[in-house]
Amino acid sequence: MIVLGNSESWPGIGTAAEHLQNGAHGLDALVPGLSLVEAETKVRSVGYGGWPNLLGDMEFDASVMDGTTRDYGAVAGVPMTLEVTRLAKAVLDNLPHTMLVGEGARRYADELGLAKDPFLLEHSKKVWWRKLEAVMTLEQKAAFPNTDLAPLTKAITDPEKVRDTTVFLCKDSHNNICTATSTSGWAWKYPGRVGDSPIPGAGFYADSRYGAAACTHTGEMTMRCGTARTVVLALRLGISLDDALRLAITELQELESGYIGGVVIHALDAMGKHRVVNVGCDEEIVYWVWTAEQGTPEKRRAVLAEDLLSGKVEALS
Ligand code: GLY
Repeated sequence: MIVLGNSESWPGIGTAAEHLQNGAHGLDALVPGLSLVEAETKVRSVGYGGWPNLLGDMEFDASVMDGTTRDYGAVAGVPMTLEVTRLAKAVLDNLPHTMLVGEGARRYADELGLAKDPFLLEHSKKVWWRKLEAVMTLEQKAAFPNTDLAPLTKAITDPEKVRDTTVFLCKDSHNNICTATSTSGWAWKYPGRVGDSPIPGAGFYADSRYGAAACTHTGEMTMRCGTARTVVLALRLGISLDDALRLAITELQELESGYIGGVVIHALDAMGKHRVVNVGCDEEIVYWVWTAEQGTPEKRRAVLAEDLLSGKVEALS
């Protein structure tokens, strides 16, 4: 058994691990873990602690995937909803659909009795306005929000870390490999922007026969490359986990146009071996991992894409 989570998964990885130890199905372990991350205000990319869109409104994306059945459920651009991963799981469990967006997703949250909450923390509101103000002309500021928002999207290229996500991947005691993701998306995004976290094959993919991958940071790139699917399909073709990641890294690095930023790929193979790789993020990237042998979650450093490509990284054993 293993649970792998990104840097911001710390509030929930222990809970996910406990559920796995008690024999839970992977998704029944990951969803309560992610709910704790969503409720933690110190995590600045998801739930309560997340960042708003250009209008100052929170819009959340989330997904769950069961790699045994390849069932998945997702929600995107959901307003006023903290427990979006639970909502995504309810889409998987109860609807003949795979994804709900915006007001339809919120309507379904009402049917499930999930609390409605505008969420924006006072601190987030101040930072949101300060950054927006800095990129607006006096004219735009006077007219805001009745001004074109597209020219303001330059605010979202701010170097502060604003495009993270929480991802969890696991292999449970029944050998199901699953993923779950949750995010408030790219801070200061254009309203309605959807990232890779609810898009299967881009921000996540799981197939219990071969493995799983889930990505954080620049969803605009992983959606163009189908990064998570590349990793899992390569595993299916008999390629090792590291070579599968080398292929996914190469595809990302081949992109020359459009918005180019960092991506972090978290991946597991069917044996439960894992690798986390930093593709072009300036900051050091860490992640969390728990295994049944290890007992408690450990924080580790991701390898650099350049080191994996040049063979500097020790092979997985
Ligand atoms: N990877 C998170 C996003 O692009 O929204």
